[in-house]
Amino acid sequence: MNITYNEQNRIFKLDTAKTSYCIGIVDEENFIGHVYYGRKLADDNLVYLMRTEEAPFVPSKNNRDRTSFLDAFPMEYTGNGLGDYREGTLSVKTKNGHTAVSLSYVSHRIYDGKPVLEGLPATFGTEAECKTLELLCEDSVLQLQVVLLYTVFNDTDVITRSVKIVNQGKDALYLTRVLSACIDMDNDDYEMITMHGSWARERAIQVRPIMKGKQGVSSVRGESSHQEHPFMAWKKSTTTQESGEIYGMHFIYSGNFMAQIELTQFDSMRALIGIHPENFCWKLESGESFQAPEAVCVYSAEGIGGMTRTLHNLYRKHLIRGEYKDKKRPILINNWEATYFEFNTQKLLDIARQASRLGIEMLVMDDGWFGCRDDDNTSLGDWKVNEKKIDGGLKYLVEEVNKLGMKFGIWFEPEMISPDSDLYREHPDWAIAVPGRTGSLARNQYVLDLTRKEVRDHIFDMVASVLHSANIEYVKWDMNRQLSDLGSCGLPADRQGELFHRQVLAVYELQDRLTKEFPHLLLENCSGGGARFDPGMLYYSPQIWCSDDADAIERLSIQEGTAMIYPLSTMGAHVADCPNHTVGRVTPFETRGYVALAGTFGYELDVTKIPEADRNMIPEQVAMYHKYNDLVREGDYYRIASYRENHFYDCYEVVSQDKKEALVTYIQVLNRPNYHSRRIRIPGLAPDQMYVIENAADWPEIRQTKYSGEALQYAGINVPALWGDFKGRLMHLVQV
Ligand code: DGJ
Repeated sequence: MNITYNEQNRIFKLDTAKTSYCIGIVDEENFIGHVYYGRKLADDNLVYLMRTEEAPFVPSKNNRDRTSFLDAFPMEYTGNGLGDYREGTLSVKTKNGHTAVSLSYVSHRIYDGKPVLEGLPATFGTEAECKTLELLCEDSVLQLQVVLLYTVFNDTDVITRSVKIVNQGKDALYLTRVLSACIDMDNDDYEMITMHGSWARERAIQVRPIMKGKQGVSSVRGESSHQEHPFMAWKKSTTTQESGEIYGMHFIYSGNFMAQIELTQFDSMRALIGIHPENFCWKLESGESFQAPEAVCVYSAEGIGGMTRTLHNLYRKHLIRGEYKDKKRPILINNWEATYFEFNTQKLLDIARQASRLGIEMLVMDDGWFGCRDDDNTSLGDWKVNEKKIDGGLKYLVEEVNKLGMKFGIWFEPEMISPDSDLYREHPDWAIAVPGRTGSLARNQYVLDLTRKEVRDHIFDMVASVLHSANIEYVKWDMNRQLSDLGSCGLPADRQGELFHRQVLAVYELQDRLTKEFPHLLLENCSGGGARFDPGMLYYSPQIWCSDDADAIERLSIQEGTAMIYPLSTMGAHVADCPNHTVGRVTPFETRGYVALAGTFGYELDVTKIPEADRNMIPEQVAMYHKYNDLVREGDYYRIASYRENHFYDCYEVVSQDKKEALVTYIQVLNRPNYHSRRIRIPGLAPDQMYVIENAADWPEIRQTKYSGEALQYAGINVPALWGDFKGRLMHLVQV
């Protein structure tokens, strides 16, 4: 990695091991242009790419057509309202009501390491691991400074970007749009990859051609959402999993976002990512600054898989923190689908006793243990143990679970308030609401106004006091509704537009406090399943509940989309009971285990009630988890086949960093009569080494031989049809 500035050409060049990113300063007005992003280049003399010698020319040579210049020039970070008619990154409103902004380069700093982004989750690295460029730009009329921050890392091919705005003028102004990154480049017949979904079917991958005009994904729901995801990529149509070019942008943020590509009249593209400007208006007093969240930019010439592995490495090494960062997680059993709200101490202990005998390591008590919550209509905000249900008290329950050799975990939904709660009766103004309007309920609950310090402190104290009261080693932090009725009693009229972002900052502050006060806690984020599975949350919790849909077949595409950009170690995945509670499907217990092994692994069922044959399989699954989890968490992930695309089978692989072993998961969703075996190619192994499939003793067709890494990758193996639907196999390849 390196960052250089060529003074003669006025070009900055940011290098990672395999990529280069170039920024140029042009004309007397010091416009900041995006020159190049792609394969690593030795040469930085790329000024010719900026078309400053072509009509309409730079303004010093042709100010007559200044708007034409501004509308075509590849901007590194845009201004507003002066002739660049493409959608931009920054807009303001001055005290006179003006909205124009124009940015010029002033100076720069290049240094080792990376600054912390105050109050925000962000990637990190030591001085030896990364280098940062700070480009200082300004609008001299507004006396507005804009600092563009870029970081490159020594061990992963990404460039992270963020933006800080400083008001040096004497009057307050309003920021009405501050996006985090922009990449302008020529189109090359790219197609766009985004992820879409709904409750219980999050992150379904969609590929579409890039058409003239604007296209993208966004959320204005106050969270990253089930519906769309703060990520987009663009690739050549010929790019496959293992070859070809792809670019991606991912946003380290958990609230409203937009990610958009605009294809212009000149067939050039502008890719933008940042906080969604809708309902955003931030008052910046004289002397104040605003820090926008971080965006990750990635380029790979090694296909979608190259991008995937780059992001996995970045998040594993430079985003996830805490005690469990690189550690195996305890196998948990969660009582949600086992009991819903109908449980008590005895029931939980029955589950725990049986679970501990089978090798399960932690009991998680889900929703319904507090206030008088026997259904989802009441008590959010009253974080006091319901001793009618938890008879004997929480401490007793936890001690009994600990005596079984198991850890104990608990569920909270700290951001919410039920209208039927003591908290609401005492503080009705603590809910986010627009005075004079009937508030929109969702799951019969409101969102707490966490922008108010007294509300944050109260909630934190209640949660902390429960956690101090017993040996609780895990928290599931849930969030079961999206934001609406935006209004805060704590903010003046001209700051109501800050509510969405302040709410996200407040959640970050609370999770920061929680993880500092309880440094040994394993935190799992969750939002009605996977509606807040985003890199922002990963900074606080090393794992996130992936989806409320635990059906093994539905999970194939949910986990495919998730694993395209997130390490497997982050994906909350459990074996649930059948018929599945979301889709009614019946799948073999064995297959449910194989699919959950691709994530954090655990159980979501009443282990005292499931069929004996299933229960008897648990010790074997537990053993598989212990055998394979280091490989799953730390290995390189390869997507081999997608059930979403082929409608028959799914296949993926994790290869250890030293290439000594690999685990291939093969799920045959549907069997077909008279179908001969299926050829699959297994990439990523050492071509000149020999491998055996160590766990195929009962599988003669596969067991018979040693395979070279090269043959496995380019010729493949024949996997025979399995008898029946929803069947699966794990293949453990070991170097000999
Ligand atoms: C939604 C979560 O995704 C579920 O796992 C469960 O915790 C429920 N909330 C509880 O209300």
